[in-house]
Amino acid sequence: MNRKINIAEIKLTEEEIEAAVRVLRSGSLRQGKECAAFEEEFAKKVGTKYAITCSSGSAALHLAYMSFLEPCDEVLVPSFSFIATASMVCMAGGKPIFCDVDSETFLIDLKDAEKKITPRTKAIAPVHLFGNPCDIDQIKAFAKKYGVIIVWDAAQAHGATYKGKDIGSFDEFVCYSFYPTKNMFVGEGGIVCTNNLEFAEKLHYMRTHGQTDKYYHTILGLNYRMTDVEAAIGREMLKRLDSMLHIRRRNAALLTEGLAEIPGITPQKLTPNTEHAWHQYGVLVDPEEFGCDKDTLLQRLQEKGIASGIAYPRGLHQQPVFKKMYGKQQLPVSEHIATRVLNLPVHHGLSVSDVEYIVDAVKECRRY
Ligand SMILES: Cc1ncc(COP(=O)(O)O)c(C=O)c1O
Repeated sequence: MNRKINIAEIKLTEEEIEAAVRVLRSGSLRQGKECAAFEEEFAKKVGTKYAITCSSGSAALHLAYMSFLEPCDEVLVPSFSFIATASMVCMAGGKPIFCDVDSETFLIDLKDAEKKITPRTKAIAPVHLFGNPCDIDQIKAFAKKYGVIIVWDAAQAHGATYKGKDIGSFDEFVCYSFYPTKNMFVGEGGIVCTNNLEFAEKLHYMRTHGQTDKYYHTILGLNYRMTDVEAAIGREMLKRLDSMLHIRRRNAALLTEGLAEIPGITPQKLTPNTEHAWHQYGVLVDPEEFGCDKDTLLQRLQEKGIASGIAYPRGLHQQPVFKKMYGKQQLPVSEHIATRVLNLPVHHGLSVSDVEYIVDAVKECRRY
């Protein structure tokens, strides 16, 4: 009999629901004590000095970019990512410069980024895509060489590590999302981690209209606050992040083992010296070798009760909005990945037998 397997597990535990209800009962619905405590606990968990909660992962990126970008400054972004990686650069007055990605890790290709450096390059925004950490030392060396700021897009990478250190501990900005489907989820929410006091203070004020004193505004900002209800859920969920990650890593290992023998299925390659956070289990489907393309495989898995996904069906430079703004560009690797990528369920709600069912289903789809 067919099972019903979702692409993400977004149920809250009783403790998380109780934490939210406790705040609702208290009548303190706005940003307050819970947000402050969540910031302190999240910062401690990832090993950074400061953490600033906000209303989404997009808000986290926007705040980071707003804090240092000047009009027409350029930011190097990987083209194979979610829209916010690049659109928040535009919203902060800058220009995203689309870079290609590595064909195996799907992460920003520094050789391509290097070709795109100009006197206007102000920052680089590497994405730890699907939870696969970038080679942080290489990117830090690149940033130092060209004098650019790093905005890590860690929306998908809660709990990922690089050389034994949490990816949230690295300068200057590390931006997370708590959107449902992410490794940690509170409804809508985000957080920016930084070790830089000056940036931390700026972000702190910017998320509340640049208010440095009651009705006294020294910089421009927005209302990007998180509420205490979401923060209370986040505080509770932080306690089970490690156990959720443990299950994701077990599931990913089982998928990797099970899919290894299937011709035409190539999983995302892991960066050495890292621990992947497995927000997504991304594979490339070679239609010739596998026998059908990723869209057909998605459809066939759906018939077996397995929800898979396609993140992302096109590179950012291929998005109509950016084509209109910056014209047609070609980034062959991003385009190639977008035609072949499929995301299989790997989340913490899956049992060993669910994962075996997914592996068997992929095998059967090949023989369809
Ligand atoms: C890579 C990446 N960056 C940024 C975001 C934006 O996060 P949010 O949806 O919380 O605004 C997401 C969320 O999907 C993401 O996957």
